[in-house]
Amino acid sequence: MALFRKSGPQEPLQPAKPDEARNRPVRREELAMVREPRGQIAEQFRALRNSVVALNPDGASRTVVLTSAVSGEGKTVATLNLALALAELPGNQVLVVDADLHHPAIEEYLELPRRQGLADVLAGTCALDASIRATSAEGVSVMGAGTLPENPTRLLGSDRMKVVLNQLKQRFSYVLIDTPEAMTISDASLIGGMADGILLVVRLGSTPRHYVEQTHNTLEALGGNVLGTCLTGATVEDTARNYARRS
Ligand SMILES: Nc1ncnc2c1ncn2[C@@H]1O[C@H](COP(=O)(O)OP(=O)(O)OP(=O)(O)O)[C@@H](O)[C@H]1O
Ligand SMILES: [Mg+2]
Repeated sequence: MALFRKSGPQEPLQPAKPDEARNRPVRREELAMVREPRGQIAEQFRALRNSVVALNPDGASRTVVLTSAVSGEGKTVATLNLALALAELPGNQVLVVDADLHHPAIEEYLELPRRQGLADVLAGTCALDASIRATSAEGVSVMGAGTLPENPTRLLGSDRMKVVLNQLKQRFSYVLIDTPEAMTISDASLIGGMADGILLVVRLGSTPRHYVEQTHNTLEALGGNVLGTCLTGATVEDTARNYARRS
């Protein structure tokens, strides 16, 4: 009955054209790497990038999942800023994959139209090439979430997901995977077990510590390799206090 329908059926998505996003500027305010490349937040992402690269001394291609304990901690923004920071290093080709098949947001932050993406590739209805677009940021490409399925976990937990991740590693130096929050949705833990590493995004002063610890334990119990945390939400006051301490 229409009265009870939460939302209408999805419009069929078009395949992605590899070069269609090249002229669309990346400019959302949250993307500090492009909006304020000399600011403190950008420097924090460069520091995180340096840690990720230092953990990978042989320079092999890597898949890294970004997740958090609860929603809204800044995962999607952090995924994009880290991708932009990694792409600053010469020779790095970075792919951002939107594996949040509940509330995808990567394309929105890049101000790009939704296209076929990860879910379509996993369902076998879209070729890998028709799911990836280069962005206007040099060295950064994107694979959107695609057509949202009834059961995301079944798609993401499939053997096909492992195959796709391996194919992507052959094309990109770093594959950064944005996921939903791990405490209420199991998808991040599942993909985390398939990826080379996991970064736990934590919003400063907001996420209870035991939530973070519980999430860390769950991710590792499912075979995930937690590389570390990515702190978000440092305020101007925090920054001022830091400067005050230094001087
Ligand atoms: N560095 C930042 N600067 C300013 N605002 C930010 C920053 N990081 C995140 N935000 C804001 O915090 C909110 C949540 O960010 P984001 O969408 O990245 O979180 P999320 O963890 O991916 O959320 P969800 O769990 O819904 O996927 C957004 O309103 C975003 O604008
Ligand atoms: Mg998100």
